[in-house]
Amino acid sequence: MNAEIEKVKAEIGKFSISSSEELEKFRLEFLSKKGKVPALFVGLKDVLPEEKRKVGQAINEVKVLAQKKFDDQKALLGNNKAQGSGEMVDPTLPSKPGQVGGSHPISIVRDQMVKIFERIGFNVSHGPEIEDDWHNFTALNFPPDHPAREMQDTFFIEKDPDIALRTHTSSVQVRVMENEKPPIRTLSPGRVFRNEAISARAHCIFHQVEGLYINRGVSFVDLKQTLYHFAKEFFGENTKIRLRPSFFPFTEPSAELDVSCPFCNGKGCKICKGTGWVEIGGAGMVDPRVLRSSNIDPDEYSGFAFGMGIERITMLKYQINDIRLFFENDVRFLQQFQREI
Ligand code: DAH
Repeated sequence: MNAEIEKVKAEIGKFSISSSEELEKFRLEFLSKKGKVPALFVGLKDVLPEEKRKVGQAINEVKVLAQKKFDDQKALLGNNKAQGSGEMVDPTLPSKPGQVGGSHPISIVRDQMVKIFERIGFNVSHGPEIEDDWHNFTALNFPPDHPAREMQDTFFIEKDPDIALRTHTSSVQVRVMENEKPPIRTLSPGRVFRNEAISARAHCIFHQVEGLYINRGVSFVDLKQTLYHFAKEFFGENTKIRLRPSFFPFTEPSAELDVSCPFCNGKGCKICKGTGWVEIGGAGMVDPRVLRSSNIDPDEYSGFAFGMGIERITMLKYQINDIRLFFENDVRFLQQFQREI
């Protein structure tokens, strides 16, 4: 055994290292799992018990020797490289660009929507995500046991009095009307919550943009023109809109808002299921009862409101087919989106 130890020691001493390839060869021959130094430790089991201690120490010394040679040669090779004897280093080159964070696609689209409405005189308002029954339902003309409440499956936080995660940004309408005098032109972007099963098409968290305009003599024509303006600004000059009769407790009349399919220009494709139209939100004339709930006289003022889903619009803009991608924070997905300046 002792002869074996001496032999390895001598080999370590003789091994010449002048390149990184040789350094690696050295490591493999002596230090790697199947190398000669670990093999010495394996041989230790055949040594007589009374000699184990001494022989073990001797092998350890060989190990330290091999490791030291490896470390020293490695440092030496590294230094030589930096001095120019190895790889060329050009210290005047600009450094590689660092990774810069970007905005989430939902934020990008939200800000684009806000800008379009800001240019036609809308301001931005926000309300709480945890909302009381009054602002989320009652003031918006949802009667206590009316099935309309079931349109929006709610996450309740407390019962009697009801406190819940807001199911739509229409609650911000009420808060603005309670606190401001007409004329009101406001846009309320924000996060909303519904107790829905998560799938490629639906999520329990998503984002909406709510719009509200209250003034003297506001008519359905104003609503239609405003939505048309938005559709053209966002999806392109040739975009058309369509309003289909619908029902919401807080608007009368109510409509569902479609835009001509941005992919096939209304000809019919897979995205619009051959119809040429895609739905992006709801809208209508604010119900006089809603105005009265917020102390606005419906005989003097009228108004329109609309609500659009930001995920839906983002999915149309970027041809994304699964809403869950927005919430998974996979950088490979997120890196694809850039703000348009
Ligand atoms: N709050 C509705 C929803 O979440 C969307 C909506 C429809 C908002 C019509 C409105 C409106 O302001 O007038 O489905």
